[in-house]
Amino acid sequence: MAVGIFDSGLGGLTVLEAVANRLPSQTFVYMGDNLNAPYGVRGTSNIFDLTTKCIERMWEEDCDLVVLACNTASAAALKQIQEKWLPKNKRVLGVFVPLIESLTKRNWGDNSPPREVDVKNVALFATPSTVASRAFQRELAFRAIGVDVESQACGGLVDAIEDGDLILAEALVRSHVDALKRKMPKPQAAILGCTHYPLLEKVFKDALGENVEVYSQANIVAASLSDYLNRHPKMIGSNKLKNIFITTGDPVIISRRATQFLRRSVEFISA
Ligand code: DGL
Repeated sequence: MAVGIFDSGLGGLTVLEAVANRLPSQTFVYMGDNLNAPYGVRGTSNIFDLTTKCIERMWEEDCDLVVLACNTASAAALKQIQEKWLPKNKRVLGVFVPLIESLTKRNWGDNSPPREVDVKNVALFATPSTVASRAFQRELAFRAIGVDVESQACGGLVDAIEDGDLILAEALVRSHVDALKRKMPKPQAAILGCTHYPLLEKVFKDALGENVEVYSQANIVAASLSDYLNRHPKMIGSNKLKNIFITTGDPVIISRRATQFLRRSVEFISA
């Protein structure tokens, strides 16, 4: 048995790296739906259909547990997947809640009423679909009061990263940060609410300035997955096998881009 890590494209590799470092004896199957990326400009039911098709493909690789390392799929489809679609013996987790628990300094399963937290002004950078869903604000409202969230839909950024055009990606980050700052000049914290964005974390940090705490999901999700597997040891496979990387796109191109981003050789196979 392996743990599946899913994203619309290359962004989930930032999560895979962190979880694989944290859990070296766990086998992982990574799947990127690069053929259909970006998801962030698609409608909810389309995102649901694409995501569930990939989850079914990961079941063929013996992944009873799949992590949606994609905020867009988590925001648009996770609730419906968990409540209406998933068979009893399978699990799918998202990346939103661990991030909000970390921001609001809550432990898993803390269902106490929302309370005041230290951070008051939060900038959220995410895809157009994630921003439109308001899923972040909804989950935050369950846990915290008095937090002002200003969102910036970072149109074009996932496309530029998927295309490997890092010059365009950097220019887009700077212009999206400027746009956010016009709406909220002094955010205390910034959420990189798309798993592609940590690939440009340095640029975000530079554009935001040093007084802004930047939250990106990889390490937060890794800690949360490790905690989940401690509580659900049946989801851990019996022995470590080689990690597998699957793409719906062209495996040669995707392997080259992934190798460029991770600075180590990664070989994808075709879905
Ligand atoms: N990495 C995905 C996310 O976290 C990118 C979504 C997209 O394909 O637009 O939202």
